[in-house]
Amino acid sequence: MEKREGEGEGEEEQVVNPWTVSAKGGGKIDYDKLIDQFGCQRIDQSLVDRIHRLTSRSPHVFLRRGVFFAHRDLNEILDAYERGEKFYLYTGRGPSSEALHLGHLIPFMFTKYLQEAFKVPLVIQLTDDEKCMWKNLTVEESQRLARENAKDIIACGFDVTRTFIFSDFDYVGGAFYKNMVKVGKCVTYNKVVGIFGFTGEDHIGKVSFPPVQAVPSFPSSFPHLFGGQDNLRCLIPCAIDQDPYFRMTRDVAPRIGYQKPALIESSFFPAMQGETGKMSASDPNSAIYVTDSAKEIKNKINRYAFSGGQDSIEKHRELGANLEVDIPFKYLSFFLDDDAKLEEIRKEYGAGRMLTGEVKQLLIQVLTGLVERHVGLGLL
Ligand code: TYM
Repeated sequence: MEKREGEGEGEEEQVVNPWTVSAKGGGKIDYDKLIDQFGCQRIDQSLVDRIHRLTSRSPHVFLRRGVFFAHRDLNEILDAYERGEKFYLYTGRGPSSEALHLGHLIPFMFTKYLQEAFKVPLVIQLTDDEKCMWKNLTVEESQRLARENAKDIIACGFDVTRTFIFSDFDYVGGAFYKNMVKVGKCVTYNKVVGIFGFTGEDHIGKVSFPPVQAVPSFPSSFPHLFGGQDNLRCLIPCAIDQDPYFRMTRDVAPRIGYQKPALIESSFFPAMQGETGKMSASDPNSAIYVTDSAKEIKNKINRYAFSGGQDSIEKHRELGANLEVDIPFKYLSFFLDDDAKLEEIRKEYGAGRMLTGEVKQLLIQVLTGLVERHVGLGLL
């Protein structure tokens, strides 16, 4: 199965799984439909307020603006937290490119906020084995990319006393492997085909991979971190493309005597060229990378960020920008912290009083600052 990121699929239904994200007819992803299809819950205002209350800090911008929009059992995690029980966070990255792009940063930035707000441990899995198999990389190249990506992840600034980053090639074994075998025994070939769409042409490496991503959801996979705390709950922040792995995990967990992991899931940060899905690692101009220079960020935004502005200034003043398709505005809605400023742009740009060039200029400032701070933290 090839991952087609950000591509439309003609008239076919939308497809969202770990390898393919494509909207129906090249349009936008229908997230409401996805919630129904996957059987997760929407994050509503009362849940955001509850997190605000429990953590005594303002909810992260990704929560306030509905970037993280779906969950599974988040209320149960918060009930337990309220009773004084801790949990741990689990997230990950499949190292398929030299550097992370801004989309990849989203779950990591959000995880950092959750770790700080709840003061909980975190495990980060680097699935170098997954990318070796799916992207046809050598073992050595996948390991090298995992090390490179680990630097970008560390630069997010997690609490070093509470964070464990591991690569599968280095860590799988012992208690972790025992859990993989327990999971594997509960999932039939038919089941895995149903969840992931494997075909007879896929090699058995792929078919046998899902337990590797499943078992960090169980504290007993990390005896050196959580020895004796086998009931510790797990919360997984990720984009919704990873949901199939954890549907499988949640199905198996009670059958092997473990708690189901809870999830908090985000929508996709769109490609520069428009909002049809995820960004493509094979097209460097479709995304901004954390290693891009200020000049590259400026050029990419000016040249490639799809504008919802009108063709001529006169028409723009008359009709205003179409914010539904405008990428500079969409990017600002992820990364501009200031709610009042964003609202002002929505009004002014939407009414045609502000021009695309001005919005792009602000976006360049915001993203250059973000990437510079990221690089700065990485050098500490
Ligand atoms: P990967 O490397 O494809 O993506 C890393 C994380 O980034 C999310 N993501 C995005 N989020 C918002 N907008 C985007 N455009 C975007 N593109 C990717 C992914 O959902 C993921 O959270 N198999 C996994 C690695 C993994 C993992 C995990 C991820 C292992 N264990 C546990 C999350 C939780 C992968 O290849 O992710």
